[in-house]
Order: sequence, then structure tokens, then C-alpha cells
Amino acid sequence: MTLASISPALVVAITGAGQGIGRGLALAFARQGAHAVVVSDINEQAAAKVADEVHGLGGQALALQADVTRAADCAALVAQTVQAFGRLDVMVCNAGIMQLRPLLELEAEDWDRMLAVNVKGSFLTLQAAARQMLEQPPLAAGRPRGKIITMASIAGRSGAGPIAALIAPYRASKAALISLTQSAAITFAPHITVNAICPGLVETDMWKQMDRDWTALQGIEEGAAWKQRTATIPMGRPQQPEDVANLALFLASPASDYMTGQSINIDGGLMMN
Ligand SMILES: NC(=O)c1ccc[n+]([C@@H]2O[C@H](COP(=O)([O-])OP(=O)(O)OC[C@H]3O[C@@H](n4cnc5c(N)ncnc54)[C@H](O)[C@@H]3O)[C@@H](O)[C@H]2O)c1
Repeated sequence: MTLASISPALVVAITGAGQGIGRGLALAFARQGAHAVVVSDINEQAAAKVADEVHGLGGQALALQADVTRAADCAALVAQTVQAFGRLDVMVCNAGIMQLRPLLELEAEDWDRMLAVNVKGSFLTLQAAARQMLEQPPLAAGRPRGKIITMASIAGRSGAGPIAALIAPYRASKAALISLTQSAAITFAPHITVNAICPGLVETDMWKQMDRDWTALQGIEEGAAWKQRTATIPMGRPQQPEDVANLALFLASPASDYMTGQSINIDGGLMMN
């Protein structure tokens, strides 16, 4: 057992887990022996597929359809988790969307959609999770009653690369999420820890779409934006969902029980703050 081992009794729920980073987290928690993984996504089929993958690893899983912009869905996600597994130890507010569009061309609807999923969705998810966690005993004496992990981004940090001109609502949403993480951490201490993960350039469908949109705008070859951006990563390779999962496992483990309100970059050294 390593210092950062998770409890074998751990019940973890992840939003937006039908693909990409969320899927990577679901599989990592299963591999590390979590008691149960609740795989939630707006896309029911995608969630079911990942739950099958967790079963394939010998883990317990429940697939749930939930749109994080709907308070009733977030409450049902928590209620069904507790109904199935008795408690909720870790909630990962991972669901998020991205849009690449020059600032002057943005419509009010673009702004509303981004903030609705990335900020309001995380708020509704963490609020529903906290209501349950505050009511349950800790897994062991002296430990928090639950842990919440939000999925922010280095895009939520100050400082601007060239892409800042094209993803203003996304950057604002992730900065707001870092702030929300701090408010939640203060509100729920010492019972629940709340920390944000700030990934860098993760090889998922989200980035594939960004590359398509960015290269189309610039009139350059598809794949070129991803290649240019990832060439600047000090650690010398693009980030994988597993890299993000390693930090999530730490934040879910007793090794991080004294840490709350933090936003941690895990980006191969792109952003050093
Ligand atoms: N890929 C990156 O480089 C990167 C970097 C930093 C942060 N992030 C963040 O990590 C998270 C996951 O990103 P990803 O790269 O895996 O993206 P992705 O697009 O591959 O997956 C996102 C998942 O969220 C789901 N989703 C979208 N809207 C939803 C809603 N309203 N309710 C529930 N589920 C919804 C989608 O169906 C999808 O399965 C996001 O919050 C993203 O902003 C990604």
C-alpha cells in the first residue's frame, strides 16, 4: 500500500465520465480498488459503456444519465448513488464543455451555455454532493466526511497565450470554478475537502475539436494547432487522462486529508504558478 492509496470502501461519482478525462478517472478508481464507481454523463450510452469497462476490470459500477445544468439531475445522481452503495465519498465535478470562437463574434448564448455547464453545473453537483456528505459519518475516525474534486484548467489561471483570444468564456468559466472551489472549501471545512485540478493539454475529444476549430480559423492543416501547442510542454509529451487520474486518486486518498481550497496545476510544466 502506498501513502496515497484510496480506501477499499470508497464510493466515487464522476460527472462527464462517458469519455475523455472522466472515463480515465473512472477506470483509474476501479483499478485502484474503489468499492464502487458511479459513471454519470449527459450521454447515457457513453456512461453505460464506461460502466461496462469498469465491470470488465472487476469493479462495481453504476451508469447514470445526468445533465449537470439541471438541479434535479444532480440531486438524483447523489440519491441514486446512496441508494445503490449507501454513501458518497468522492464527487468529481468533471463535466465541461469548450468552445473556440473569437471574442468579437461571441453571442450572448455562447456565454450562457459555457457558464451554465462549467460553472453552474459544477455548483449544482458539488452542492448536491455536500448535502449528502455532511449527513454521513467519515469512513474512519478523524477523517473528512467526503471529498469534492472540481475539474478546472490552466486556462482559468491568469496569463494569456495566443489561445486566450479565442476561448474567453471557457477561461472565465474555469477561473470562476477555481473561485467556487475556494468558497466551497471554506463553507464545508473541516467536514469536506474541496480541491480543483487544473490540467493542461489533455489528449481527448475536447482537444481534437479545438484543434479542428483552431486550424480551420487559421487556414492551416488539421492537427497543426495540437502539434504546435504540445511541442511547448516541458515534460515533452501530451497529457493523458491517466496523468489527471493520478492527482484525483491523491485528492481522494487520506494522504490529502489536510489539503483544501487548492487549485493544482498538472500540465507537464506549462504553467508554473
Ligand atoms: N482536454 C483538456 O485538455 C482539458 C484541459 C483542462 C481541463 N479540462 C476539463 O476536463 C473536463 C473533461 O474534459 P475532456 O477533455 O474529457 O472533455 P470531453 O469533451 O472529452 O468529455 C466531456 C464529457 O462531459 C459530458 N458533458 C457535457 N455536457 C454535460 C452536461 N451538461 N452534463 C453532464 N455531462 C456533460 C460529455 O458528454 C462528455 O462525455 C472538462 O471540464 C474540461 O473543461 C480538459
